Amino acid sequence: MPHYIKIGNVPHKRHTQFRKPDGGLYSEQLFSTEGFSSNYTLLYHIHPPTQIIKTEEPIDVNPKIATENILKHRSFQGFNIQPEADYLQSRKPVLVNSDCHISLAAPQKSMRNYFYKNADADEVLFVHEGNGKMLTQYGELKFGYGDYIVVPRGTIYQLHFETEANRLFIVESFGPIRYPKRYMSKLGQLLEHSPYCERDIRTPENLVAIDQKGEFLITTKKKGMLYPITYANHPFDVVGWDGCEYPYIFSIHDFEPITGRVHQPPPVHQTFDGKDFVICSFVPRLYDYHPDSIPAPYNHSNIDSDEVLYYVDGDFMSRKHVTRGMITLHPSGIPHGPHPGAVEKSIGKKETGELAVMVDTFRPLQLTEFAMGIEDKDYVMSWAE
Ligand SMILES: [Fe+2]
Repeated sequence: MPHYIKIGNVPHKRHTQFRKPDGGLYSEQLFSTEGFSSNYTLLYHIHPPTQIIKTEEPIDVNPKIATENILKHRSFQGFNIQPEADYLQSRKPVLVNSDCHISLAAPQKSMRNYFYKNADADEVLFVHEGNGKMLTQYGELKFGYGDYIVVPRGTIYQLHFETEANRLFIVESFGPIRYPKRYMSKLGQLLEHSPYCERDIRTPENLVAIDQKGEFLITTKKKGMLYPITYANHPFDVVGWDGCEYPYIFSIHDFEPITGRVHQPPPVHQTFDGKDFVICSFVPRLYDYHPDSIPAPYNHSNIDSDEVLYYVDGDFMSRKHVTRGMITLHPSGIPHGPHPGAVEKSIGKKETGELAVMVDTFRPLQLTEFAMGIEDKDYVMSWAE
């Protein structure tokens, strides 16, 4: 839930005449993601954002569910997802439910011939490898390793990579992505105890209005289908905008860990709130400092949530055989905890360099065919060594 900003030129009063140098009117657009009942932004286009000149048959990209039998710990080698040139083709859903879809992507090429809009879901793109720019009608966002790019549903964007080896961990959220409520003051400021604050949020910059006529393809995702819709004007023809709904970046490296004398529970790692799921960041931090503390986590039964951990970098003290890009899924219903030997090994350790993203869902996740293709099938037995 970012805060109010204003970029470029906007009229003194909303919903009033705002004229171009040639005397014509700019086209005002209200952009909101929860009807007219929550945050919104007003954008001013050189041309109306409505001039469709061609529509084509949609392509079905609904995740193919592999199995619903999930009462088993699972592990997947995320980096075994094969790179693909095109961004949208590179996105492979692996774990899904009705609240969120978790995908992996290794796109190699920038988007040059089309724009993308997800009309169903907010997107959180976690950048594991690669850097570049996200171009939007709000301006551009420079991204790199460790960035969470948070994109409200309906945002039109293009990714331009400076690198060919790119790895993204993507969460599509069918409810809005917000800062956790308990981090916010009743008037909407991030509180002192929050692990990040407004200064850590990077907002769009370098807004340049592109006044161009032609054929502009906006591939629009709706109900699992990709609709090719061609417009007569460049979508980034915005001369100014203001409001509280826009894409932004928060870097995992700016997450300030909350530590204690004894082991702190997972909610201290929470970064974002979705509808019936949370996104958490595990970052390098000092360990618990009670003289008899056990830094490794306790076994826990998470009876009402599925836990997904995406390993980014560093050593993971509670598990063996962890690789970059690996995903573990610990489903609700069976307890999990440190691997054999990990508890004793953790005692006396002062700090950890681990970096990971966790997604905890309150509704069970389903595996896709892509997930089955990268599964490490022996993982469920890895505590019995
Ligand atoms: Fe856990």
